[in-house]
Amino acid sequence: MSTLSGKRILLGVTGSIAAYKAADILRRLKEQGAVVRVVMTKNAARFVSKLTFETLSEMPVLIDEFAEHDKAGIGHILATDDADLSLIAPATANIIGKIAAGIADDALTSAVMALECPIVIAPAMNDRMYRNPVLQRNIRFLKEQGVRFIEPETGPLACGTVGQGRLADPDGIVQEIVSFFSPKELSGVNVLVTAGPTQEPLDAVRFISNPSTGKMGYAVAQAARERGASVTLISGPTHLTPPPGIKVIKVRTAAEMRRAVMASSGESRVVIMAAAVSDFKPALLSDRKVKKDSLPPVLQLERTDDILRELGSAKGRLLLVGFAAETDNVVENAVRKLKDKNLDLIVVNNVLQEGTGFGCDTNAVTIIDRSGSAVDIPMMTKTEVAVRVIDKIVELAANTGILP
Ligand code: CTP
Repeated sequence: MSTLSGKRILLGVTGSIAAYKAADILRRLKEQGAVVRVVMTKNAARFVSKLTFETLSEMPVLIDEFAEHDKAGIGHILATDDADLSLIAPATANIIGKIAAGIADDALTSAVMALECPIVIAPAMNDRMYRNPVLQRNIRFLKEQGVRFIEPETGPLACGTVGQGRLADPDGIVQEIVSFFSPKELSGVNVLVTAGPTQEPLDAVRFISNPSTGKMGYAVAQAARERGASVTLISGPTHLTPPPGIKVIKVRTAAEMRRAVMASSGESRVVIMAAAVSDFKPALLSDRKVKKDSLPPVLQLERTDDILRELGSAKGRLLLVGFAAETDNVVENAVRKLKDKNLDLIVVNNVLQEGTGFGCDTNAVTIIDRSGSAVDIPMMTKTEVAVRVIDKIVELAANTGILP
Protein backbone atom coordinates (compact mmCIF):
# COMPACT_ATOMS: atom_id res chain seq x y z
CA MET A 1 0.00 0.00 0.00
CA SER A 2 1.32 3.45 -0.86
CA THR A 3 2.13 5.71 2.04
CA LEU A 4 -0.53 8.35 1.22
CA SER A 5 -3.21 5.95 0.04
CA GLY A 6 -6.65 7.54 0.27
CA LYS A 7 -5.39 10.82 1.75
CA ARG A 8 -7.03 13.94 0.31
CA ILE A 9 -4.67 16.85 -0.08
CA LEU A 10 -5.54 20.35 -1.11
CA LEU A 11 -2.53 21.84 -2.90
CA GLY A 12 -2.44 25.64 -2.98
CA VAL A 13 -0.13 27.15 -5.61
CA THR A 14 0.76 30.84 -5.59
CA GLY A 15 2.57 33.25 -7.91
CA SER A 16 6.23 32.44 -7.47
CA ILE A 17 8.70 31.31 -10.11
CA ALA A 18 8.86 28.08 -8.06
CA ALA A 19 5.24 27.36 -9.11
CA TYR A 20 6.59 24.92 -11.69
CA LYS A 21 7.98 22.81 -8.83
CA ALA A 22 4.41 22.40 -7.54
CA ALA A 23 3.75 20.22 -10.60
CA ASP A 24 6.52 17.87 -9.44
CA ILE A 25 5.20 17.90 -5.86
CA LEU A 26 1.73 17.05 -7.16
CA ARG A 27 3.09 14.19 -9.26
CA ARG A 28 4.98 12.75 -6.27
CA LEU A 29 1.99 13.05 -3.94
CA LYS A 30 -0.11 11.18 -6.51
CA GLU A 31 2.59 8.51 -6.81
CA GLN A 32 2.25 7.98 -3.06
CA GLY A 33 -1.48 7.37 -3.51
CA ALA A 34 -2.86 10.79 -2.49
CA VAL A 35 -5.91 12.38 -4.10
CA VAL A 36 -4.80 15.95 -4.82
CA ARG A 37 -7.04 18.89 -5.61
CA VAL A 38 -5.33 22.10 -6.73
CA VAL A 39 -6.42 25.64 -5.95
CA MET A 40 -4.20 28.28 -7.52
CA THR A 41 -4.00 32.05 -7.52
CA LYS A 42 -4.33 34.05 -10.74
CA ASN A 43 -0.65 34.97 -10.47
CA ALA A 44 0.33 31.31 -10.15
CA ALA A 45 -1.50 30.69 -13.44
CA ARG A 46 0.81 33.25 -15.07
CA PHE A 47 3.74 30.94 -14.31
CA VAL A 48 2.16 27.51 -14.89
CA SER A 49 -1.07 26.82 -16.71
CA LYS A 50 -4.13 25.44 -15.00
CA LEU A 51 -4.13 22.68 -17.61
CA THR A 52 -0.81 21.33 -16.26
CA PHE A 53 -2.32 20.85 -12.80
CA GLU A 54 -5.62 19.58 -14.19
CA THR A 55 -3.81 16.96 -16.24
CA LEU A 56 -1.55 15.85 -13.39
CA SER A 57 -4.24 15.85 -10.69
CA GLU A 58 -7.00 14.46 -12.97
CA MET A 59 -9.30 16.93 -11.19
CA PRO A 60 -10.73 20.35 -12.01
CA VAL A 61 -8.50 23.17 -10.75
CA LEU A 62 -9.99 26.13 -8.93
CA ILE A 63 -8.64 29.61 -9.73
CA ASP A 64 -11.55 31.98 -10.01
CA GLU A 65 -14.51 31.09 -7.87
CA PHE A 66 -16.78 33.33 -9.94
CA ALA A 67 -15.90 31.74 -13.29
CA GLU A 68 -18.68 29.70 -14.87
CA HIS A 69 -16.62 26.53 -15.02
CA ASP A 70 -15.58 26.75 -11.40
CA LYS A 71 -19.14 27.32 -10.26
CA ALA A 72 -20.19 24.17 -12.05
CA GLY A 73 -17.09 22.28 -10.96
CA ILE A 74 -15.82 23.01 -7.47
CA GLY A 75 -16.25 26.05 -5.31
CA HIS A 76 -13.87 27.01 -2.53
CA ILE A 77 -16.06 25.39 0.12
CA LEU A 78 -16.47 22.14 -1.78
CA ALA A 79 -12.70 22.06 -2.42
CA THR A 80 -12.03 22.04 1.31
CA ASP A 81 -14.85 19.76 2.42
CA ASP A 82 -13.03 16.48 2.74
CA ALA A 83 -9.35 17.58 2.77
CA ASP A 84 -7.11 15.69 5.23
CA LEU A 85 -4.32 18.23 4.82
CA SER A 86 -3.62 21.39 2.91
CA LEU A 87 -0.19 22.17 1.46
CA ILE A 88 0.59 25.61 0.07
CA ALA A 89 3.72 25.31 -2.05
CA PRO A 90 5.16 27.60 -3.16
CA ALA A 91 3.75 30.23 -0.79
CA THR A 92 4.54 33.89 -1.50
CA ALA A 93 4.97 36.57 1.18
CA ASN A 94 1.60 37.89 -0.02
CA ILE A 95 -0.39 34.69 0.63
CA ILE A 96 1.26 34.24 4.04
CA GLY A 97 0.32 37.84 4.92
CA LYS A 98 -3.25 37.36 3.74
CA ILE A 99 -3.76 34.14 5.66
CA ALA A 100 -2.27 35.69 8.81
CA ALA A 101 -4.58 38.68 8.45
CA GLY A 102 -7.70 36.60 7.72
CA ILE A 103 -8.20 38.00 4.23
CA ALA A 104 -10.27 35.89 1.85
CA ASP A 105 -10.36 37.75 -1.45
CA ASP A 106 -9.75 34.96 -3.95
CA ALA A 107 -10.39 31.24 -4.36
CA LEU A 108 -7.29 30.09 -2.46
CA THR A 109 -7.57 32.44 0.51
CA SER A 110 -11.32 31.71 0.74
CA ALA A 111 -10.58 27.99 0.69
CA VAL A 112 -7.95 28.39 3.43
CA MET A 113 -10.47 30.32 5.53
CA ALA A 114 -12.86 27.35 5.31
CA LEU A 115 -10.24 24.67 6.02
CA GLU A 116 -10.60 22.51 9.10
CA CYS A 117 -7.60 20.29 8.34
CA PRO A 118 -3.94 20.97 9.21
CA ILE A 119 -2.09 23.42 6.95
CA VAL A 120 1.52 23.12 5.80
CA ILE A 121 3.16 26.11 4.13
CA ALA A 122 6.37 26.00 2.06
CA PRO A 123 7.45 29.61 1.40
CA ALA A 124 9.47 30.71 -1.64
CA MET A 125 10.61 34.28 -2.24
CA ASN A 126 13.56 36.65 -2.47
CA ASP A 127 15.87 36.45 0.57
CA ARG A 128 15.26 40.08 1.61
CA MET A 129 11.51 39.49 1.49
CA TYR A 130 11.97 36.34 3.57
CA ARG A 131 13.92 38.25 6.22
CA ASN A 132 11.33 41.04 6.34
CA PRO A 133 10.19 41.43 9.96
CA VAL A 134 6.52 41.69 9.01
CA LEU A 135 6.69 38.39 7.12
CA GLN A 136 8.57 36.78 10.01
CA ARG A 137 5.93 38.06 12.43
CA ASN A 138 3.20 36.56 10.19
CA ILE A 139 5.03 33.21 10.14
CA ARG A 140 5.42 33.25 13.94
CA PHE A 141 1.73 34.05 14.36
CA LEU A 142 0.63 31.28 11.99
CA LYS A 143 2.94 28.78 13.74
CA GLU A 144 1.24 29.70 17.01
CA GLN A 145 -2.07 28.84 15.31
CA GLY A 146 -0.70 25.38 14.50
CA VAL A 147 0.29 25.99 10.89
CA ARG A 148 3.43 24.04 9.96
CA PHE A 149 6.18 25.61 7.87
CA ILE A 150 8.75 23.92 5.68
CA GLU A 151 11.66 26.35 5.64
CA PRO A 152 12.98 27.60 2.31
CA GLU A 153 16.52 26.60 1.37
CA THR A 154 19.58 28.78 1.01
CA GLY A 155 21.02 28.97 -2.48
CA PRO A 156 20.91 30.90 -5.78
CA LEU A 157 17.55 32.64 -6.20
CA ALA A 158 15.66 33.48 -9.39
CA CYS A 159 16.39 37.20 -8.86
CA GLY A 160 20.13 36.55 -9.21
CA THR A 161 21.11 36.81 -5.54
CA VAL A 162 22.11 34.03 -3.16
CA GLY A 163 20.26 33.65 0.13
CA GLN A 164 17.48 31.88 1.99
CA GLY A 165 14.26 31.87 0.01
CA ARG A 166 14.39 28.98 -2.45
CA LEU A 167 11.46 26.58 -2.16
CA ALA A 168 12.45 23.50 -0.12
CA ASP A 169 13.34 20.47 -2.24
CA PRO A 170 10.09 18.87 -3.58
CA ASP A 171 11.27 15.47 -2.35
CA GLY A 172 11.72 16.85 1.18
CA ILE A 173 8.29 18.52 1.04
CA VAL A 174 6.63 15.23 0.07
CA GLN A 175 8.58 13.44 2.84
CA GLU A 176 7.21 15.95 5.35
CA ILE A 177 3.68 15.19 4.17
CA VAL A 178 4.24 11.42 4.34
CA SER A 179 5.75 11.87 7.78
CA PHE A 180 2.72 13.88 8.90
CA PHE A 181 0.39 10.95 8.17
CA SER A 182 2.58 8.14 9.53
CA PRO A 183 1.77 6.63 12.92
CA LYS A 184 4.46 7.61 15.43
CA GLU A 185 5.15 4.32 17.23
CA LEU A 186 8.88 5.08 17.49
CA SER A 187 8.42 8.44 19.12
CA GLY A 188 11.03 8.84 21.89
CA VAL A 189 13.15 5.99 20.50
CA ASN A 190 16.75 6.68 19.37
CA VAL A 191 17.47 4.76 16.19
CA LEU A 192 20.95 4.49 14.71
CA VAL A 193 21.22 3.69 11.00
CA THR A 194 24.38 3.15 8.95
CA ALA A 195 24.41 3.55 5.17
CA GLY A 196 26.60 3.59 2.12
CA PRO A 197 29.97 2.03 1.41
CA THR A 198 33.21 2.57 3.24
CA GLN A 199 36.44 3.49 1.48
CA GLU A 200 39.70 1.91 2.59
CA PRO A 201 42.66 3.93 1.30
CA LEU A 202 45.98 2.48 0.26
CA ASP A 203 47.49 5.89 -0.45
CA ALA A 204 46.28 9.49 -0.85
CA VAL A 205 44.41 8.83 -4.12
CA ARG A 206 43.55 5.13 -4.20
CA PHE A 207 41.15 3.05 -2.15
CA ILE A 208 39.13 -0.14 -2.20
CA SER A 209 35.38 0.07 -1.81
CA ASN A 210 32.14 -1.40 -3.15
CA PRO A 211 29.27 -0.11 -5.35
CA SER A 212 26.88 0.73 -2.49
CA THR A 213 25.15 4.09 -3.08
CA GLY A 214 23.51 4.34 0.36
CA LYS A 215 19.95 4.51 -1.06
CA MET A 216 18.62 1.64 1.08
CA GLY A 217 20.12 2.96 4.32
CA TYR A 218 18.96 6.53 3.67
CA ALA A 219 15.45 5.22 2.94
CA VAL A 220 15.50 3.25 6.21
CA ALA A 221 16.63 6.34 8.15
CA GLN A 222 13.83 8.36 6.60
CA ALA A 223 11.22 5.67 7.27
CA ALA A 224 12.31 5.47 10.94
CA ARG A 225 12.05 9.23 11.26
CA GLU A 226 8.59 9.19 9.69
CA ARG A 227 7.50 6.83 12.49
CA GLY A 228 8.64 9.37 15.07
CA ALA A 229 12.14 8.06 15.91
CA SER A 230 15.11 10.33 16.68
CA VAL A 231 17.44 9.13 13.98
CA THR A 232 21.22 9.30 13.73
CA LEU A 233 22.51 8.33 10.30
CA ILE A 234 26.16 7.34 10.04
CA SER A 235 26.96 7.50 6.37
CA GLY A 236 29.90 6.40 4.29
CA PRO A 237 30.68 8.47 1.17
CA THR A 238 27.51 8.91 -0.96
CA HIS A 239 26.05 11.52 -3.29
CA LEU A 240 22.70 11.52 -1.51
CA THR A 241 21.03 14.47 0.22
CA PRO A 242 20.30 13.49 3.81
CA PRO A 243 16.59 13.34 4.64
CA PRO A 244 15.37 16.32 6.71
CA GLY A 245 15.20 16.07 10.50
CA ILE A 246 17.98 13.50 10.84
CA LYS A 247 21.36 13.86 12.53
CA VAL A 248 24.00 12.84 9.99
CA ILE A 249 27.57 11.79 10.80
CA LYS A 250 29.80 11.37 7.75
CA VAL A 251 32.60 8.85 7.82
CA ARG A 252 34.92 7.32 5.27
CA THR A 253 36.55 4.11 6.50
CA ALA A 254 35.24 1.06 8.35
CA ALA A 255 37.33 2.12 11.36
CA GLU A 256 35.74 5.59 11.37
CA MET A 257 32.29 4.02 11.03
CA ARG A 258 33.04 1.69 13.94
CA ARG A 259 34.13 4.62 16.15
CA ALA A 260 31.02 6.64 15.25
CA VAL A 261 28.69 3.65 15.81
CA MET A 262 30.24 2.81 19.18
CA ALA A 263 30.00 6.46 20.28
CA SER A 264 26.26 6.63 19.43
CA SER A 265 25.04 3.08 20.07
CA GLY A 266 24.94 3.51 23.86
CA GLU A 267 22.01 5.87 23.67
CA SER A 268 20.24 3.93 20.90
CA ARG A 269 17.48 1.36 21.31
CA VAL A 270 17.64 0.18 17.71
CA VAL A 271 20.72 -0.14 15.47
CA ILE A 272 20.20 -0.86 11.78
CA MET A 273 23.45 -1.68 9.96
CA ALA A 274 22.50 -1.10 6.32
CA ALA A 275 26.02 0.03 5.38
CA ALA A 276 28.11 -2.10 3.06
CA VAL A 277 31.15 -2.02 5.34
CA SER A 278 34.37 -3.18 3.65
CA ASP A 279 35.44 -6.53 5.06
CA PHE A 280 39.06 -5.83 4.15
CA LYS A 281 41.39 -2.86 4.06
CA PRO A 282 44.75 -2.63 2.34
CA ALA A 283 47.79 -2.15 4.53
CA LEU A 284 48.25 1.63 4.17
CA LEU A 285 51.26 2.24 1.96
CA SER A 286 51.49 5.99 2.38
CA ASP A 287 49.39 9.04 3.11
CA ARG A 288 50.97 10.61 -0.01
CA LYS A 289 50.38 9.46 -3.56
CA VAL A 290 52.51 6.43 -4.38
CA LYS A 291 53.93 6.45 -7.94
CA LYS A 292 52.73 3.45 -9.92
CA ASP A 293 56.24 2.06 -10.36
CA SER A 294 56.48 1.80 -6.58
CA LEU A 295 53.09 0.10 -6.12
CA PRO A 296 53.38 -3.56 -5.15
CA PRO A 297 51.77 -5.91 -7.73
CA VAL A 298 50.04 -7.79 -4.90
CA LEU A 299 48.15 -5.89 -2.21
CA GLN A 300 48.32 -7.00 1.40
CA LEU A 301 44.84 -6.92 2.89
CA GLU A 302 43.80 -6.90 6.54
CA ARG A 303 40.36 -7.70 7.95
CA THR A 304 38.34 -4.75 9.26
CA ASP A 305 36.54 -5.02 12.58
CA ASP A 306 33.04 -6.46 12.23
CA ILE A 307 30.94 -3.69 13.79
CA LEU A 308 27.72 -5.68 13.86
CA ARG A 309 29.35 -8.71 15.47
CA GLU A 310 30.84 -6.47 18.15
CA LEU A 311 27.44 -4.90 18.88
CA GLY A 312 25.79 -8.34 18.92
CA SER A 313 28.28 -9.75 21.40
CA ALA A 314 27.24 -7.28 24.12
CA LYS A 315 23.88 -6.03 23.00
CA GLY A 316 21.75 -5.91 26.14
CA ARG A 317 18.36 -4.43 25.26
CA LEU A 318 19.48 -3.22 21.87
CA LEU A 319 17.37 -4.30 18.91
CA LEU A 320 19.96 -5.18 16.28
CA VAL A 321 19.25 -5.35 12.55
CA GLY A 322 21.72 -6.50 9.91
CA PHE A 323 21.63 -6.45 6.14
CA ALA A 324 23.10 -9.08 3.87
CA ALA A 325 23.72 -9.12 0.14
CA GLU A 326 24.03 -12.67 -1.14
CA THR A 327 24.31 -14.49 -4.44
CA ASP A 328 24.04 -18.16 -3.33
CA ASN A 329 22.04 -19.96 -0.63
CA VAL A 330 20.52 -16.57 0.16
CA VAL A 331 18.24 -17.47 3.07
CA GLU A 332 20.60 -20.09 4.62
CA ASN A 333 23.50 -17.61 4.63
CA ALA A 334 21.32 -14.90 6.11
CA VAL A 335 20.05 -17.17 8.91
CA ARG A 336 23.65 -18.15 9.70
CA LYS A 337 24.68 -14.46 9.91
CA LEU A 338 21.68 -13.67 12.12
CA LYS A 339 22.73 -16.39 14.58
CA ASP A 340 26.51 -15.77 14.34
CA LYS A 341 26.16 -12.05 15.01
CA ASN A 342 23.34 -12.37 17.58
CA LEU A 343 20.90 -10.23 15.56
CA ASP A 344 17.18 -9.74 16.04
CA LEU A 345 16.48 -9.27 12.37
CA ILE A 346 18.28 -9.66 9.07
CA VAL A 347 17.25 -8.18 5.74
CA VAL A 348 18.70 -10.11 2.84
CA ASN A 349 18.60 -9.65 -0.90
CA ASN A 350 19.90 -11.64 -3.81
CA VAL A 351 22.12 -9.16 -5.65
CA LEU A 352 22.01 -11.23 -8.83
CA GLN A 353 18.25 -10.67 -9.18
CA GLU A 354 17.52 -7.83 -11.61
CA GLY A 355 16.20 -4.63 -10.02
CA THR A 356 17.71 -5.33 -6.60
CA GLY A 357 20.85 -4.38 -4.79
CA PHE A 358 23.52 -1.73 -5.30
CA GLY A 359 22.48 1.51 -6.97
CA CYS A 360 18.93 0.46 -7.97
CA ASP A 361 15.91 2.46 -6.83
CA THR A 362 14.10 -0.82 -6.20
CA ASN A 363 14.78 -3.85 -4.07
CA ALA A 364 13.27 -7.23 -3.25
CA VAL A 365 14.24 -8.68 0.13
CA THR A 366 13.50 -11.36 2.69
CA ILE A 367 13.17 -10.24 6.30
CA ILE A 368 14.09 -12.96 8.78
CA ASP A 369 13.75 -12.81 12.56
CA ARG A 370 15.19 -14.93 15.38
CA SER A 371 12.22 -17.26 15.41
CA GLY A 372 13.10 -18.16 11.83
CA SER A 373 10.01 -16.50 10.38
CA ALA A 374 10.91 -15.23 6.90
CA VAL A 375 8.79 -12.68 5.04
CA ASP A 376 9.40 -12.17 1.34
CA ILE A 377 9.02 -8.55 0.27
CA PRO A 378 8.53 -8.51 -3.52
CA MET A 379 10.14 -5.94 -5.81
CA MET A 380 9.19 -2.39 -4.81
CA THR A 381 10.93 0.96 -4.35
CA LYS A 382 13.60 1.14 -1.67
CA THR A 383 11.41 3.71 0.10
CA GLU A 384 8.62 1.13 0.31
CA VAL A 385 10.99 -1.68 1.33
CA ALA A 386 12.27 0.60 4.10
CA VAL A 387 8.71 1.10 5.38
CA ARG A 388 8.29 -2.72 5.53
CA VAL A 389 11.56 -3.09 7.43
CA ILE A 390 10.48 -0.43 9.92
CA ASP A 391 7.03 -2.11 10.22
CA LYS A 392 8.79 -5.31 11.30
CA ILE A 393 11.06 -3.41 13.71
CA VAL A 394 8.02 -1.69 15.27
CA GLU A 395 6.37 -5.11 15.72
CA LEU A 396 9.50 -6.60 17.34
CA ALA A 397 10.12 -3.53 19.47
CA ALA A 398 6.57 -3.69 20.80
CA ASN A 399 6.95 -7.41 21.63
CA THR A 400 10.31 -6.98 23.35
CA GLY A 401 9.31 -3.98 25.43
CA ILE A 402 11.73 -1.63 23.68
CA LEU A 403 9.06 0.95 22.90
CA PRO A 404 8.69 3.53 25.67
N1 CTP B 1 29.09 -5.41 8.77
C1 CTP B 1 29.69 -4.77 9.83
N2 CTP B 1 31.06 -4.65 9.88
C2 CTP B 1 31.83 -5.17 8.93
C3 CTP B 1 31.22 -5.84 7.84
C4 CTP B 1 29.85 -5.95 7.80
O1 CTP B 1 29.00 -4.29 10.71
N3 CTP B 1 33.14 -5.03 8.99
C5 CTP B 1 27.63 -5.53 8.75
C6 CTP B 1 26.95 -4.91 7.56
O2 CTP B 1 26.60 -3.57 7.80
C7 CTP B 1 25.73 -5.79 7.36
C8 CTP B 1 26.20 -7.14 7.81
O3 CTP B 1 27.33 -6.91 8.67
O4 CTP B 1 24.67 -5.40 8.19
C9 CTP B 1 26.67 -7.97 6.67
O5 CTP B 1 27.17 -9.15 7.18
P1 CTP B 1 28.53 -9.79 6.64
O6 CTP B 1 28.69 -11.12 7.27
O7 CTP B 1 29.67 -8.89 6.83
O8 CTP B 1 28.21 -9.89 5.16
P2 CTP B 1 29.26 -9.98 4.06
O9 CTP B 1 30.28 -8.90 4.15
O10 CTP B 1 28.47 -10.05 2.81
O11 CTP B 1 29.95 -11.35 4.50
P3 CTP B 1 30.37 -12.55 3.57
O12 CTP B 1 31.31 -11.92 2.61
O13 CTP B 1 30.99 -13.53 4.49
O14 CTP B 1 29.09 -13.01 2.96
